[in-house]
Amino acid sequence: MILVFGSINADLVFPVETLPKPGETVLGADYLTVPGGKGANQAVAAGRFGAPTRMAGMVGDDDFGRAAVAELHAAKVDAALVATGGAPTGCAAICVDANGENQIAVAGGANRTVHAGLVPDDALGPDTTVLLQMEVPLEENWRLADRAKAAGARVILNNAPAAHIPDDIWPVLDYVICNELEIAAAAERFGITGRDPEDAADALRAKVPTALVVTLGSDGALALAHEAKWRVGALKIDPVDTTAAGDSFVGAFAAGLDEGQDLPDALHHASVAGALTCLAAGAMPSIADRAAIDARLGELSPPRPQ
Ligand code: RIB
Repeated sequence: MILVFGSINADLVFPVETLPKPGETVLGADYLTVPGGKGANQAVAAGRFGAPTRMAGMVGDDDFGRAAVAELHAAKVDAALVATGGAPTGCAAICVDANGENQIAVAGGANRTVHAGLVPDDALGPDTTVLLQMEVPLEENWRLADRAKAAGARVILNNAPAAHIPDDIWPVLDYVICNELEIAAAAERFGITGRDPEDAADALRAKVPTALVVTLGSDGALALAHEAKWRVGALKIDPVDTTAAGDSFVGAFAAGLDEGQDLPDALHHASVAGALTCLAAGAMPSIADRAAIDARLGELSPPRPQ
């Protein structure tokens, strides 16, 4: 069982030719309003992968919140631990350029009131994989991570957007998943600077007891576990919108481990899941399901030990 503890947003998506620079206004045509948020996206990714999945989080008493919960239900995610509070549902402004690259600003709203008390003790046990990100109050993440570890759960943190992971939390985390910017930020906290993402991950791995996974965009991903290091490539695609590619990777990776896949197999599926999410606009609507992932898996060589 996957338990995602995290953010739920409405995404306002603005396709533009080029991303605005500071002080610049760029003009586009239409915009989309779709459910998103790193937590909810990862829950949808795990649900569409076929994993039994629960989501814990907060929304406002508004149409954005109701739409997000409906999308969770549509992906067969149990949203009984999503509470409605006084603050409005979180909202993200997302510009997407002609190459599919994005720029995101998030108003946290109800996500800022998420607390570990949303998750009852009986939701945590040795058969649970807890999935955390960094869009809710971090001290609540750490509270839940501690409780989850004590209950024997697997704990996975997606360090996105990058923020400080306290020294005493690293041992509680089984996996930390970062993109290239996030691994650099995590490594810098340990005085590791000026390295490429793989070197930064190697150096960080020597300092923490946690397995690391680094997503590398069109270069695929790396996993540095206790016993081995693995590298997987990426599907060759023409990206439309890279939003939620990381979330899709993380959700599929967690779902793969949860169903008993070994690390290379989970990495393989996750890389395909991330790439497929780049083929359509918006976060949640573009997240691939298991059938789509399995249909393209053979196009990507399995991970190689390094
Ligand atoms: O990772 C993509 C997500 O980041 C978007 O859905 C947006 O809501 C922000 O949380």
